[in-house]
Amino acid sequence: MPRIMPYIVRLVPPSIKPAVRRVYHLPADILDSVLRRRDPLTPPKGKIFFGGGDFDKIGREYFRYFVNLGGLKPHERVLDVGCGIGRMAVPLTRYLSAEGSYEGFDVFPEGIRWCRENITPKYPNLRFQVADIKNKEYNPSGRFAASEYTFPYEDASFDFVLLTSVFTHLLPEELEKYLSEIRRVLAPNGRCLASFFLLNDDSLGAIRSGASTISFRHDFGGYRAKDADTPEAAIAYPEDYVRSLYTERGLSIAEPIHYGAWPGRRSFLSYQDIVVAVNKGSA
Ligand SMILES: C[S@@+](CC[C@H](N)C(=O)[O-])C[C@H]1O[C@@H](n2cnc3c(N)ncnc32)[C@H](O)[C@@H]1O
Repeated sequence: MPRIMPYIVRLVPPSIKPAVRRVYHLPADILDSVLRRRDPLTPPKGKIFFGGGDFDKIGREYFRYFVNLGGLKPHERVLDVGCGIGRMAVPLTRYLSAEGSYEGFDVFPEGIRWCRENITPKYPNLRFQVADIKNKEYNPSGRFAASEYTFPYEDASFDFVLLTSVFTHLLPEELEKYLSEIRRVLAPNGRCLASFFLLNDDSLGAIRSGASTISFRHDFGGYRAKDADTPEAAIAYPEDYVRSLYTERGLSIAEPIHYGAWPGRRSFLSYQDIVVAVNKGSA
């Protein structure tokens, strides 16, 4: 049943999407609340404003990648770019020590409000803020352009930056600016773990043959999108382009890239492609 939600949501104007979601999930949310089967840090389904899948399970899955692929330690300083409604923050509440810290920012105010009201009061070393940046899919009336946005943090102030399913919604000039900002805020030897839809021979072949789970049928020259009117709904980038952006910024990709299931691969780590990189530059 919840699988039809993305189709319903696509048909309604952005301003009423949150209300539609709330109403649609209301019966399940009431039941979860009555039966006390929702963790207090997990938002009700009607408040989760993106994607599908099991919120807690996906958070736990990525948490393993942060530790096992990105080498995240409990005492480190974490930045979550596009933190949504705290899906990645929840497992970090149980991992980060008092010395460790977490900052998250996002363009969608409702998600940040939830995190500030439900996570920070119990875990004050996890903080959240809104960035009023325009994104056609998530914040169409935002004031600032992502391509000109300076992250509100000092240089070299993080050991670990994560972006889960965020570069998959940014346009090229936004991706480029964000990678520059990530390089700026990362301490020397700090790591960045980001997910992508990467275009290479393998995934392009799958797109052409129809095996890919996302059609990416619209070629914008430089990237592909599933939706011509709102490319930000899902964007795929050529792997060579992404690699060159990282290299230009002194972000060294830790090989191998962990390719995902999205183009219909039989062997994969996750759904999206996962890129881990190390800041090889000086502060
Ligand atoms: C698919 S959701 C993923 C959310 C979160 N990273 C997670 O995995 O739970 C994409 C997120 O990117 C955010 N976003 C879109 N454009 C952004 C931008 N320019 N800067 C920061 N976040 C952005 C959206 O508001 C949304 O929360």
